[in-house]
Amino acid sequence: MQGKTIVLGVSGGIAAYKACELASRLTQSGARVHVVMTQAATRFIAPLTFEALTHQPVHTSLWPDAGEQAASAPPNSQPPTSNLQYAAMAHIALADSADAVLIAPASADVIARLAHGLADDLLTTLVLATRAPVLVAPAMNPTMLAHSATQKNLATLRELGYIVIEPESGRMACEHVGSGRLPETDVLIQALPDAMADVGARHALPLHGKMVLVTAGPTREALDPVRFLSNRSSGKMGYAIAAEATRRGARVLLVSGPTRLQTPPGVARHDVLTTQQMFDVVTQHAPECDIVIAAAAPADYRLANVAERKIKKTKIEKSGAAEAMLRLELVPTPDIIAQVGHGRKPHQIVVGFAAETGNELDEARRKLRDKNLDALVFNDVTQPDAGFDTDTNRVVWITRDSDEAWPLLSKDEVAARLWNAIESIAPGR
Ligand code: PMT
Repeated sequence: MQGKTIVLGVSGGIAAYKACELASRLTQSGARVHVVMTQAATRFIAPLTFEALTHQPVHTSLWPDAGEQAASAPPNSQPPTSNLQYAAMAHIALADSADAVLIAPASADVIARLAHGLADDLLTTLVLATRAPVLVAPAMNPTMLAHSATQKNLATLRELGYIVIEPESGRMACEHVGSGRLPETDVLIQALPDAMADVGARHALPLHGKMVLVTAGPTREALDPVRFLSNRSSGKMGYAIAAEATRRGARVLLVSGPTRLQTPPGVARHDVLTTQQMFDVVTQHAPECDIVIAAAAPADYRLANVAERKIKKTKIEKSGAAEAMLRLELVPTPDIIAQVGHGRKPHQIVVGFAAETGNELDEARRKLRDKNLDALVFNDVTQPDAGFDTDTNRVVWITRDSDEAWPLLSKDEVAARLWNAIESIAPGR
């Protein structure tokens, strides 16, 4: 830990006393430790304790009063001239200086606020502002930890790339026995070098610094409150592409129709139901992205008028055989990837898919041109082991200049080849 700057976030909980040993051991190992306490934490431990252990000012507020301002000035900073300047500086200076942020103990409240991206105190604000790895060590009563709200929030943190250090089981201060204890100090300290090494390795990855948007899965267009039009897309192809992009260091937003799949680790997922919703989310985020890949199978049509109540079969039957047919009036949905393709900036790469029912490569090339794409992945979905809801796919990679047929591969392998191909068509773009 020699020479490393660690921001130690301490939130309100009885385990806050264990953070004293943690702060002391980190300091003794050569780290510069900046403790940031939530207001609730100060009810358990006095900031002065941490100040004595770390030989550094302790930070407790985004908006300090005049007295606190002097005591809590950020490291290596000129004295601030106003409270506003102080506030801007404190969380940015701390966030920038950190090699790692470790929140131990992390209360249910802090976990919930981080999961929702809130920035209503110094700790949550600096977490949003830092590029350093953030480690979260939950500690709370076992029933609170097991609550589905807390579990959902922890799952969100993992998806967002936070490192969650699993709590230990045992007897708690509240006399309950179960999972929720803050792990031993050694376990917390050992997690830090791994997290910092991961960051170093991530910088060397080919898609590091790139923002990628992937669409996946089907969309659904309602007929009435109980029925919908959709298709057989499982989302497997798009999810494999999103997972591979994260492994290569990209920040990934997966815009997904309804699927049964787990979100790949490190991927941020936005669920949608209809093509219009997918269009709205994609067109909102595409301008910030470097690469957009459309593997989804959005419904091309929606009902002109969705019935407010369930369409009754009996009514249709009573009206006589000739009129028993139910006619649906469909109108086209917006073409998402065409909109992105035509509105893109020069540095952006846009890749589509074409699901055809035959070897219709010309149709795929037409889509490449009409939607203004850099490349297109053609799959004949009538082929065995290819297309919808399979674990494998057989595709042709089509660019403006050439076609390249790939053999039958797992969807993970297709995703890896696709990223190799994208990296080679646009090095540094
Ligand atoms: O999800 P899986 O079960 O793994 O199956 C994978 C897949 C078969 C869905 C995938 O490989 C695939 O082919 N995806 C594209 C499906 C499709 O809608 O193809 P298309 O030829 O109709 O559309 C061409 C392109 O326009 C696609 O990139 C599509 O995402 C996009 N599109 C289509 C309609 C629309 N309204 N907006 C769009 O952006």
